[in-house]
Amino acid sequence: MSTEIDPKKIIAEVSGHDIDQWVRTASFTPEVEESIRGHIHQELTSWLFFRKLGADCARSSISLHGFARLWERSAEECLADFKWLEKYLLSRGGRSKPTSIEATTFEWPDNPIEPVGPCKEALFVEKKLLEDLERLCSKADKSGDVALTDAIQSRFMRKETRHAKSLADLLRQVVRASKQPGLGIYLLDRELRDSDGIVPWDCVNDPRQQDNDPAEV
Ligand SMILES: [Fe+2]
Ligand SMILES: [Fe+2]
Repeated sequence: MSTEIDPKKIIAEVSGHDIDQWVRTASFTPEVEESIRGHIHQELTSWLFFRKLGADCARSSISLHGFARLWERSAEECLADFKWLEKYLLSRGGRSKPTSIEATTFEWPDNPIEPVGPCKEALFVEKKLLEDLERLCSKADKSGDVALTDAIQSRFMRKETRHAKSLADLLRQVVRASKQPGLGIYLLDRELRDSDGIVPWDCVNDPRQQDNDPAEV
């Protein structure tokens, strides 16, 4: 027995539909979607902040090129996270709604060159990203959106926790080096220059380094 299908009818039915709505699961509520966009906004604001820090450190008047590379890397990471989340949003049936990015007013003091204030600010920008991800995770949990919880935890949580700790360590090193103005900060900058801006102790802050079994957990 064959079932008659009217092609025109099914084409009309599907073409009139918002297919994004079929991609969306019930747990992916408008509130959850808005929260993802909120984090996207924060990644972009942080990107601009880190770009500015990097540009300040690369000025001849400051010339801390190791620090400049660290902030450029931090900015690149924010941009990569933004792109990733935007794609994720679309893959869940959401849509991108760009918002204006507030310009940062922060300046790296150059007379005298004072690194403690900017490094403290950088730590708090990184920590705010982490806190916003926690907020996003609890929103996802509340709405039962297991897919989002998994995406945030696997892509972001571990690395952002480590980054906040590594910047806190950097702040302590900068404070220590600043007790003897000039040479200390030069040596710290050279260390960062040698590692092309990767915080040398970043991998020590990775809990996976403590595993007896080297396999990925
Ligand atoms: Fe990020
Ligand atoms: Fe980070």
